[in-house]
Amino acid sequence: MWCVSKANTFQFTAFHQLTPLAQYGILLVMKMHATALAHPNIAFIKYWGLEDEARRIPSNGSISMNIGGLATTTTVAFDSDLKEDTFTLNGDHVTGQGLLRVQHFMDRIRRLADTTRHAHITSHNNFPMGAGLASSASGFAALALAGTAALGLELTDRQLSSLAHFGSGSACRSIPGGFVEWLVDPLTGESYAVSIAPFDHWKLVDCIAILSDQHKPVGSEAGMRMAGSSPLQEARVADVDRRLETCRQAILNRDFESLAKVTELDSNMMHAVMMTADPPLYYWQPESLAVMSAVKAWQQEGFPITFTLDAGPNVHVITTQGVSKEIINRLHRIPGVLAVLTGAPAGAARLLPQDSPS
Ligand code: PMV
Repeated sequence: MWCVSKANTFQFTAFHQLTPLAQYGILLVMKMHATALAHPNIAFIKYWGLEDEARRIPSNGSISMNIGGLATTTTVAFDSDLKEDTFTLNGDHVTGQGLLRVQHFMDRIRRLADTTRHAHITSHNNFPMGAGLASSASGFAALALAGTAALGLELTDRQLSSLAHFGSGSACRSIPGGFVEWLVDPLTGESYAVSIAPFDHWKLVDCIAILSDQHKPVGSEAGMRMAGSSPLQEARVADVDRRLETCRQAILNRDFESLAKVTELDSNMMHAVMMTADPPLYYWQPESLAVMSAVKAWQQEGFPITFTLDAGPNVHVITTQGVSKEIINRLHRIPGVLAVLTGAPAGAARLLPQDSPS
């Protein structure tokens, strides 16, 4: 390969004769595309409500676990001929609000790199979207990583996590690996997540009972705006530091009983806020309650098992790897359970080699 070595003379230098730094710079300029993979996450202590919407500062901290097996893979390819970003999700060309949300996020990345170039964004989820499985978390985590890498930006994990949270709050928790806590810097208000234990710290399994694979009628962003209208939100937030500490300790000590207790309490508290908001939001379906009741009965039998639900009807049934096979079989037998997806704790968002399929 040949390249111009001095812009205002016409000398040519062989690529291999350039300094390593110059070679790196040229490769970055030429590349302009990158592919990243990120996992969704399930929160034990949930985020619901924003204290500051513009800076997306959450009303409360949260703790989650990345879900292996489920992933979003995203390729960002900048193209100097493009007039605007294009977005393809699972083979469909996205337009309207979905496209705008991605384009606004890309504007942030462009500002960081001081460029006006637009990109083709191609994304693939290997799990149903919009049914409370946090596809926006893995989606914006993968987009943050692929978009910045395509422009040659080298962000720290903290900067990446902080960037991802502007796409979707919980996306910041899909950047670090394993068990993750979302923190807010009290001085700057910067939101970012850190790993509190690696993915192999505890052999848990999330068995997700899919009761619907339809898009939820009210997304979490719109739902969250109503959180303050519930008289229960203040009490939920006031008690959160205690729940966070219990959850942190339960994870660090692999104490399933404490984890189960605080996880169910926190999920129930969030759904109580949703149901008592104005207008009320009911994400639970009759089948969700059937799965939750089954989990309570299996707990009585001595199984290490608990449940939690995000903004959707599907139930995340958390158990340990030793008994997960039995639990999956039992879940399949509950009427209304369409499928059971499973995932063990997973690692951080990562870049993939360029020729990987997206
Ligand atoms: O990340 P968002 O803005 O889509 O909100 C996610 C909210 C919940 O999934 C319901 C809770 C959480 O902490 O993941």
